[in-house]
Amino acid sequence: MAGFDHKDLLGMAQLSVEDIDLILDTAESLKEISERDVKKVPTLRGKSIINFFYEPSTRTRTSFEVAAKRLSADTLSLSASTSSIVKGETLVDTARNLQAMNPDLIVLRHSSTGAPHLLARVMEAGVINAGDGVNEHPTQALLDLYTIREKKGKINGLNVAIIGDIAHSRVARSNIIGLTKMGARVTVSGPPTMMPVEIESMGVNVEYDPRKAVEEKDVVMVLRIQLERQSKLLFPTLREYSRFFGLSQAVIERAKEDAIVMHPGPMNRGVEIESDVADGNRSVILDQVANGVAVRMSILYLLIGGARSDSVD
Ligand code: CP
Repeated sequence: MAGFDHKDLLGMAQLSVEDIDLILDTAESLKEISERDVKKVPTLRGKSIINFFYEPSTRTRTSFEVAAKRLSADTLSLSASTSSIVKGETLVDTARNLQAMNPDLIVLRHSSTGAPHLLARVMEAGVINAGDGVNEHPTQALLDLYTIREKKGKINGLNVAIIGDIAHSRVARSNIIGLTKMGARVTVSGPPTMMPVEIESMGVNVEYDPRKAVEEKDVVMVLRIQLERQSKLLFPTLREYSRFFGLSQAVIERAKEDAIVMHPGPMNRGVEIESDVADGNRSVILDQVANGVAVRMSILYLLIGGARSDSVD
């Protein structure tokens, strides 16, 4: 098996097709650990991982913690509001102090683009990007790729629509890089005010009408409006947004009969997606969350456990 030759996981842009295949294959072999009565293996015993989140999170933070514990690593969680950041300590000084305690990995979520890259330069420990501003959220894209491959049996050649606030979504950016790298055809849709200029240069099609965007698609991914990253309101009202861009049964029925519906969460029901679609038989939204644990176990293992042993028993 080819090795995973990275100290850090900072973005989908740094990963080759072989790296992505290796992460997904390793996740597949680790997934059954979460289905055992005793959901724990000793693979990362003696390793320590710090989850450092400057922004709120439910899924990413929890699943990194669960993933680390299932591999027997020691974990601790730190949030900006309860750290000495509030007393004026800089990110780099905080990182140097954490490094002094000799952790093996830091998982960082930050509101600024490039914060994990900065940390990776000053730390000996590996750094995982758990979302940096509007830039990337690579572990979300990897769990999305895993879920697509699990449900569709492949990624190459699939037609995928991504609908929502494309301009402010790090999930969209990481998924576009990952999906196109793995051979999928991506169409993005959303209000023109939430579409990045020159988005076509990322190798995607743009279709502003979501009813046309979903036509003949295998996968429809819906994204939340990132109000926290918008300096001014980019649409008249939530009601209007929902009317034009919300994924309803009438819209999803235009996709392929076996199309799956994805959402990275958190969901705003009745805004970007109707409840009957979110909870309907095409939805794989909770599978994404379950797969997030397996994919994050895979990433932890490949970054800090792979060189020691290939055994996960
Ligand atoms: N998808 C995602 O990143 O969710 P959280 O913000 O809850 O971690």
